[in-house]
Amino acid sequence: MEGFDYSSYGERIADRYDQDLENLGAEEAVAVLGDLAGKGPVLELGIGTGRVALPLAASGLEVHGIDASPAMVGKLRAKPGGQAIKISIGDFGPLTVDRVFSLIFVVFNTFFALLSQAEQAECFLRVAAHLHPGGRFVIEAFVPDPTLFERGQRVSVGQIGLDQVELVVTRHDRVRQTVTSQEIHLSTNGIEFVPVVLRYAYPAELDLMARLAGLSLEARWAGWQRQPFTSESSSHVSVYRRPL
Ligand SMILES: C[S@@+](CC[C@H](N)C(=O)[O-])C[C@H]1O[C@@H](n2cnc3c(N)ncnc32)[C@H](O)[C@@H]1O
Repeated sequence: MEGFDYSSYGERIADRYDQDLENLGAEEAVAVLGDLAGKGPVLELGIGTGRVALPLAASGLEVHGIDASPAMVGKLRAKPGGQAIKISIGDFGPLTVDRVFSLIFVVFNTFFALLSQAEQAECFLRVAAHLHPGGRFVIEAFVPDPTLFERGQRVSVGQIGLDQVELVVTRHDRVRQTVTSQEIHLSTNGIEFVPVVLRYAYPAELDLMARLAGLSLEARWAGWQRQPFTSESSSHVSVYRRPL
C-alpha cells in the first residue's frame, strides 16, 4: 500500500485502540509471560498502549519496549506506571537496543507487521542476539487461513449501529503471504480509515526462522491458557528458547 509504513497503523488507531480492545483481557498472557520471564529484564516488540506491558511491569518485572508509533506510546505514557517503562521509538525488526533480556515477546499478531520473510528472519537473528543464554522468545499469532479469501479478496462487517458501521476490505497475495486491509469506520461524524498490512507465516516457517537463529521450540499452545495446539487451532502461542 503506497505510503504505508510501520507507524501508519498505530498513528491511525491510537485514539480508539483501547476502546476497541476493551474485551481482550491481558491477565492470562501476563501470567504466562511472568512465568517464562525469570528475573528479567523483558522486552516487548510493538508495545503499543501497554495492554500487556503495564500489568507485567506492575508484577515487579523490569519491562522495556519498542514501538514505531509515538501516538500509541503517548497513550501508554499517560497511564499509571507508564513513565517507568523504557521505550524506544522505531522499527523493532533490526532490534538495536543496547541490552540483553531473559524474555522478548511479540503478541497479538504484531510479528507479522514485518512485511517480508527477510525482515522476519533477520528479526529472529536479532532477538537471539539479545537473549541471555536460556532466554526465551514468545510469539502470539494467528494460523494463516487462505480459505478466508475468495479470488484473493474479502469484505467483512464489524459493528453495526444506528449511525455507524465498520467494514474491513482485504486483498490477499498468496505468493508474498501478505494481507492488505483497510478498516473503514463510517459514521455520521465522517469516515476514518485504518490501514493494516501483514505478512503472515505458518508455524512451521516461524520454527525454521527460529532454527536458523539458533533457537528451538520449547512449547506451542493454542492460547494463553496453554490449551493443546492442534491442526484445528486458529492461533498459537509459541515459546522459543536460546540454549543455555
Ligand atoms: C496490534 S498493536 C499491539 C499492541 C500491543 N502489543 C497489544 O498487544 O495490545 C501493534 C503495535 O505494533 C506497532 N508496530 C507495528 N509494526 C512495527 C514495527 N515494525 N516496529 C515497531 N513497532 C511496530 C504498532 O505501532 C502498534 O503499536
